Amino acid sequence: MMHSRHLGLPAALLTALVHGYADPESCSGECVVYDPTLIVRSSDNTYFRFSTGNEISYCTATDLSGPWTAVGSVLPDGSSIDLAGNTDLWAPDVHYIDGTYYVYYAVSTFGSQDSAIGLATSDTMDLDSWTDHGSVGVESSSAKIYNAIDPSLIDVDGTYYLQFGSFWDDIYQVRMNSEATAASGSSYNIAYDPSGTHPEEGSYMYQYGDYYYLFYSWGICCGYDTDLPASGQEYHIKVCRSTSATGDFVDADGTACTDGGGTIVLESHGDVYGPGGQGVYDDPTYGSVLYYAYTNISIGYADDEKQFGWNTIDWSTGWPVV
Ligand SMILES: *[C@@H]1O[C@H](CO)[C@@H](O)[C@H](O)[C@H]1NC(C)=O
Repeated sequence: MMHSRHLGLPAALLTALVHGYADPESCSGECVVYDPTLIVRSSDNTYFRFSTGNEISYCTATDLSGPWTAVGSVLPDGSSIDLAGNTDLWAPDVHYIDGTYYVYYAVSTFGSQDSAIGLATSDTMDLDSWTDHGSVGVESSSAKIYNAIDPSLIDVDGTYYLQFGSFWDDIYQVRMNSEATAASGSSYNIAYDPSGTHPEEGSYMYQYGDYYYLFYSWGICCGYDTDLPASGQEYHIKVCRSTSATGDFVDADGTACTDGGGTIVLESHGDVYGPGGQGVYDDPTYGSVLYYAYTNISIGYADDEKQFGWNTIDWSTGWPVV
């Protein structure tokens, strides 16, 4: 029932409805990615972009728009983690901590809970400069309620927390040690959608102003060329926020994100289908940037055709809008 002309929609959603979503900014060179993560090497302002596949492929560029050039793999011999999938590493997450570049990654196989999160480090990010440290102690099997994939780290005033998780019981968090190399506590749930297959994964936490924003991907990620999901069931990007990094996340309507809450940030529009696998980067040139992978329906629906997309974020409503 319509109670007001705005249907009680949250400001961010209203803005998206009125203005539509921006198309991704341009990309040239190597633009096929899955689960991208970004960082700028401060010594020479080179952009590094890591992604799923090929034992963590990575590319460099002088600008976010490219041209992106392939460098190679972070761990060409795979991970030392003794699990199926250890030569097909997923969902990297890059950070710069005390002079060292950290790339967290996941070892798993599709649809399996036999998973673990690993860590590789390098002082330069140059090819063949990476050291594998194996598991950070965040692991799962069918005995656990969660799935230990899709890592993302946040530094909260010098204390590190790792977010992770996919389907099963959705998004979890664990406190890390002071070097961010190992879990130092037990894991707890920070987002859960009780409906259907509770398809939440690929979280990324970002601090802006007074809030910690928990972004995640909702829906079916992959295989669109063989099995197109029902409309609205494909990947889209949602967000929740809290003044605490460790819980009480709510969406723009105030619904708890441990109870199905989540405000849509980006979803299928125009040529863009199923955007997800996102992260947020505080870019030295563009400010806050949302980056993700999407299917361009004019190019193709196969997983190995997903494109790198990015947009600057407008925070003026207190919620991220692209
Ligand atoms: C999708 O691909 C077509 C064909 O290459 C291109 O013209 C169009 O700009 C692309 N759209 C997006 C949103 O990437």
